[in-house]
Amino acid sequence: MVKNKKIYLASPQMLGREREYVKEAFDSNWVAPLGPFVDKLEEDFEKYMPVKNAVALSAGTAALHLAIKLAGVKPGDKVFCSSLTFSASANPIVYEGGVPVFIDSEPTTYNMSSVALEKAFEKYPLPKAVIIVSLYGMPADFDKLLPICEKHGVTVIEDAAESLGATYKGKHVGTFGKYNIISFNGNKIITTSGGGMLLTEDTKAAERALKWATQSREPARHYQHEEIGYNYRMSNVCAAIGCGQFENLDDKVRMKREIFERYVDGFRDIDEIEMITEPEGMESTHWLSIMKISEFSKVRPLDIMTTLEAENIESRPIWKPMHLQPVFAECEFFAHDDKRPVSEELFENGVCLPSDTNMTVEDQERVIEIIKGLFK
Ligand SMILES: Cc1ncc(COP(=O)(O)O)c(C=O)c1O
Repeated sequence: MVKNKKIYLASPQMLGREREYVKEAFDSNWVAPLGPFVDKLEEDFEKYMPVKNAVALSAGTAALHLAIKLAGVKPGDKVFCSSLTFSASANPIVYEGGVPVFIDSEPTTYNMSSVALEKAFEKYPLPKAVIIVSLYGMPADFDKLLPICEKHGVTVIEDAAESLGATYKGKHVGTFGKYNIISFNGNKIITTSGGGMLLTEDTKAAERALKWATQSREPARHYQHEEIGYNYRMSNVCAAIGCGQFENLDDKVRMKREIFERYVDGFRDIDEIEMITEPEGMESTHWLSIMKISEFSKVRPLDIMTTLEAENIESRPIWKPMHLQPVFAECEFFAHDDKRPVSEELFENGVCLPSDTNMTVEDQERVIEIIKGLFK
């Protein structure tokens, strides 16, 4: 049986000089976890965000781990973290012996609820850090969240892995925390195949992170180590891909937003489908287009996912909240209100739709028609 053309959720797309830059890395023999493209990618981000220091690393998870260390998390310390996220947001807390405390979402952006955050602070006034995640390209509501953290004098770490290019009141997501991270994993808006970046205004912190990321070598001729180190630096070959990708970031944001708008248009007449709306002042990249189905609809997310799958089209559930994950079963959770937690409701009723910038308009129309067919 000939299968229909595969449509991906989000796959890499090379639009510019990636191949040329990788060739340059090879031709100059800079095939190492340092080199001119690593430096260039960091400079590109320092200008773009803008931020004083960007440190290119092997993964967004590595960047988060170093952010957790910079925040001074020690065994037994509590760290508040969005519950609706990928496990990589929370795992690095545990690498350092910290104890995650999960915070529910609010229903507008699906990101951390300031109401739930306040409740967590009432019980634990002194966590070591708060990890605020901006999911699926949508900024968290920083004007509500940051003053609460400031009031308690707690370090904010921003996990902007999924939201590079998004803005909140004109300022880039990934610049709101003391330490911020983005991911260049293969499915992200721009990729280095695998990689990440730590962003901070604090130059001393960036220097410490860079040292940790390169095996904590002290500045001596011989190999001198006074701290535990990691092998977390980005390869110059990966950075070459990243430099090519970076040149087309704005185009990618535009394409992702157009994909989202086509879904909004396509599902306009179906009352049971709700597409996330951008609150005033926020500009989402819609890295993934998210649909929420009414809990009263006979069509369930699984019906959509399996029907698309049969047509060779990828889709995926919304993240399963961390407080429902067996690995974090012992961790505390603070809900948005007395009703069903918002994050649980989103997990149950949401679907991530194909949001691949390689997808043609015709491909997307096929996706829309298949989904509309289920609601007839
Ligand atoms: C919210 C979130 N945080 C962290 C990460 C980790 O990034 P990486 O895969 O680059 O380690 C990801 C994605 O992969 C993510 O989606």
